[in-house]
Order: sequence, then C-alpha cells, then structure tokens
Amino acid sequence: MKLRLGPSSVSVRMALAVALAVLASMAASPRGRCDAAAAGTVVRSIFVNQNGGADFKTVQRAVDSVPFGNEHWIRVHVAAGVYNEKVVIPLNKSFILLEGEGRQQTSIEWADHADQDTTTAATPTFAAYSTDFMARDITFKNTYNGGGGGGGEMTPAVAALVSGDRSSFHRCGFVGVQDTLSDMDGRHYYEGCYIEGATDFIFGSGQSIFQGCEIWTAPAPASSSPGFITAQGRQSEADTSGFVFEGCTVRGVTPAYLGRAWRGYARVIFYRTDMSGVVVGPGWDAWSYKGKEDTLTMVESGCTGQGSNRTGRVPWTKELSGAELAKFVDLSYISADGWLDAQPR
Ligand SMILES: *[C@@H]1O[C@H](CO)[C@@H](O)[C@H](O)[C@H]1NC(C)=O
Ligand SMILES: *[C@@H]1O[C@H](CO)[C@@H](O)[C@H](O)[C@H]1NC(C)=O
Repeated sequence: MKLRLGPSSVSVRMALAVALAVLASMAASPRGRCDAAAAGTVVRSIFVNQNGGADFKTVQRAVDSVPFGNEHWIRVHVAAGVYNEKVVIPLNKSFILLEGEGRQQTSIEWADHADQDTTTAATPTFAAYSTDFMARDITFKNTYNGGGGGGGEMTPAVAALVSGDRSSFHRCGFVGVQDTLSDMDGRHYYEGCYIEGATDFIFGSGQSIFQGCEIWTAPAPASSSPGFITAQGRQSEADTSGFVFEGCTVRGVTPAYLGRAWRGYARVIFYRTDMSGVVVGPGWDAWSYKGKEDTLTMVESGCTGQGSNRTGRVPWTKELSGAELAKFVDLSYISADGWLDAQPR
C-alpha cells in the first residue's frame, strides 16, 4: 500500500490534531517540570576535567554552579578519569544531567562507611536528593570494603543514594560491597547499568525498574555466608514502591539470595532475567518477617539459567497473573505521567 502524505490525508490531519493536543496539554501543565522537561532539551553544558582546561576540576564545583530552583536541563560533562570526591546534588537543584565518558572511563570514588558516628545515609560517594535527575556513562564507587575480599568486617558503605522522584540512570556503574545502591524514594529507571555488591546491595523503598542491567555479586570480605542482592523497603499495602528487574543478568562470585525483606511489604520482581548458579536455592529470605511472609511480594517470572531453578525455593514466593505482572513490567509502573520520555536523549 502506498503511503499518502498530502496535507489533505486524513491520517496526517489526525496526527496533527493529536500532536496539537499533546502540545496544548504540555502548555497547560504546571510549570517547573513540564515546560522545561517536555522539550527534553539541554540548554547549557558545563565541562569538568580534573586535568584542567575545562570549566571546573571537580564534579561538586560544577554542581555548585547550578542555581537553586533550576528549571532547565543542564548537562555536566565529566571527562574520563577517577574523581576522588563525594558529590551531592542537593534538593532544589533539579534538571541536572550528569554525563561521563563511559562507565569504565569516568568514575567518582570515595570510601566512607557506617560506624558509631556515621549513619549509612551519610556514607554515599554520590547522592542525588533533587527531583528530575539523570546520569549516563559514569560509575559511582565506594571503595571502603576493599571490593575484592579485602578482609575486615563488612560494613554499610553506599556508592550512590537516589532519593528524588523522576530520576534515571543509563549505562552507569554502581560498585561497592554492602549497600552499594541506596535506591531510596521516588520513581527511578536504570537502563543498561552495572551493579556490584555482596550484601543488600540494591536496597531502599524506591519505585524502580531495572532494565537490561548486569548484576554482579562481589567477593565478600571475611564472610563465607551467602549475600543478598536486594533488600526492599515497601512499608504498607498502599506503598507503591517495588524493584522490578527486567531482562537483566545475575552473575558473580559470592552466592546470594535474590533478596531479603527490609520492610514488611517488600516487593521485588525478577522478570525474564538470566541467573547463573550464584543464586542460592531458597532464593529469598524473610529476614525479620518470618511467619509474616503473606505481605511480602517476591516474584520470579520467565527467568532463565541455572539460578532460576525454583525447585528449592521458599514456599512463599508469589505468582502474579499475566495482567498483574503487566502492571509492573511496563514502564507505566514508574512513568504513567510520561516523565521518562520527557528527559533528554
Ligand atoms: C527549595 O524549594 C522550596 C519550595 O520551593 C523552598 O521553600 C526552599 O526555600 C528551597 N530551598 C532552597 C535551598 O532553595
Ligand atoms: C532443578 O533442580 C533440581 C534439584 O536440584 C533438579 O533435580 C532438576 O533437574 C533441576 N531442573 C532443571 C531444569 O535444571
């Protein structure tokens, strides 16, 4: 069939009408997010190079230069190299796009850890508290636990904390041992990322989809017991949070459970994910909620690989119907209002 492209074509007129309606609805949206974000346009770029010749030598200085209340996407481009600094994106510094030159090329590294005087929440190498954040092609690493059987005790040492709504990460690295990725609050999207750790290394009460990510269990220092990939913190029936892994791979060194319940309504879904034998038979642990597993939602569907063999699984994993599952494995679970599509490409 020949495509008619004349202006009188019904389909073209319909497409135009739809486009105009979409534009009109964008214009009517509350200001702040949509007028800047809908365009998905980066209005300014700031360059960071620790060797000089750029706007700033550290990532934090570049972030500091973005005004509070920012409403337009600003790109912070970080040249290849290891940046030994802690970086914080504070509340009200929205619309920052942090960009490296590849997760193997650009990384931000620090080595804080929790102890008597330091809470886990104070340990992140990188923390983003603002809404509307985006990162790509960069690694966040906490080097405290030695990342490779360095001996000593295993201690919470966060590589990245994400607690603003509407945040996405593309081809990023998250490297640590315990509590690597603190996926705390808000709706988040991780695409093509590499996430490494041994215990509770993806934890928090985020409402998040991990798509095409590589999950790697790191050697655990001074510990021969299995680790835990996730520790999700959904707190009630009404809490919309949950971790959804879709088309990911799970491999590594330390045997690990897919997750343990950090809070009483923990929700974790592994969908069409390829699991190596590193996943232990029981699969899941109720942690402090033994005997109260009814309110936990731990799901595996369509997974492949040796580790996906569910013969030895705990009896309380959930089966979701096709329709129930579809609600979680579709991007509408985190982006029903379209924020994800509105971010810069
Ligand atoms: C952040 O935004 C809130 C609400 O708009 C405002 O009350 C507060 O003063 C802002 N804080 C900073 C540091 O700009
Ligand atoms: C799953 O594991 C059980 C027990 O270890 C084994 O008997 C069975 O053959 C396995 N299934 C597959 C498909 O590998």
